[in-house]
Amino acid sequence: MNVKEGKLEEMSPLYAYEEGMPWNPVEKIIMERRSIRGFRSDPLPDAMIERILEAGRFAPSAGNMQPWRFIVVKSREMLAEMEKDAVKVIKFFMFFMDYTKGNFLRRIVAKIYAKIFIRFLPNELQPVPFGLMSQIAQGQTPVFHNAPTLLLLVEDRRGVSCPPMDIGICGQNIVLAAHSLGAGSCWIGLIKVLMYLPKWRKKFGIKYPYRLEVCIALGWQKPKADGMVPRETQIVEWYDKGLNDAPQMKKQGE
Ligand SMILES: Cc1cc2nc3c(=O)[nH]c(=O)nc-3n(C[C@H](O)[C@H](O)[C@H](O)COP(=O)(O)O)c2cc1C
Repeated sequence: MNVKEGKLEEMSPLYAYEEGMPWNPVEKIIMERRSIRGFRSDPLPDAMIERILEAGRFAPSAGNMQPWRFIVVKSREMLAEMEKDAVKVIKFFMFFMDYTKGNFLRRIVAKIYAKIFIRFLPNELQPVPFGLMSQIAQGQTPVFHNAPTLLLLVEDRRGVSCPPMDIGICGQNIVLAAHSLGAGSCWIGLIKVLMYLPKWRKKFGIKYPYRLEVCIALGWQKPKADGMVPRETQIVEWYDKGLNDAPQMKKQGE
């Protein structure tokens, strides 16, 4: 199956699969959702936020442990302070690590620091977030995209099996519900930089067993959304013969 922007056809009813049928409303919501990075300043109505949270509350979780706490931040004062502090922490890190800026000597020293940090935080400092942090440090983009609401997904580490996975599923329910109701959303992993500051850990009650690694920016999107972000074609192995038979390789997404 292949989805191209603007090529989603007429919708099918739910619960009745037919070969070659058009995308149904659930599939359309999944495929149309985009990360929104421009919001109107007026927030969504509280009742709408509550309804979106219901989709998160009903997410599946291992052992039905529901290892999450939700925090809604709408206070403009708090949002401004969170943005300011997040930028401050990112600037601090980038001062030592951004080896793309400054004179030759600075770049060499910064590269050494960056290599050391990357060894310890390989996911956080993968090139994409690294580039984003560099842009934030230079004032080219905000951390929270000036969203009028942030939904913090606080993980309870006592969950069964793999609580971060439960958080991901819960958040995906939230962004899909938001999109289905006409709201824009964007996952923000960079909120974790605030956890370096005791002030925010205290404010949000983040100490064991809780951890805050992600939030969702939410609001009315400004008219222009980001364009389609391409996805890789996947080579999927299908085991549908005998135990010792080789899998059939099928291309998914072409
Ligand atoms: C766990 C997670 C963390 C993310 N963190 C950020 C972030 O800090 N800032 C941001 O602008 N986008 C963030 N994103 C959004 C991704 O960049 C985006 O989902 C990806 O580029 C695909 O685009 P799409 O959501 O429009 O399909 C994050 C997404 C996920 C799933």
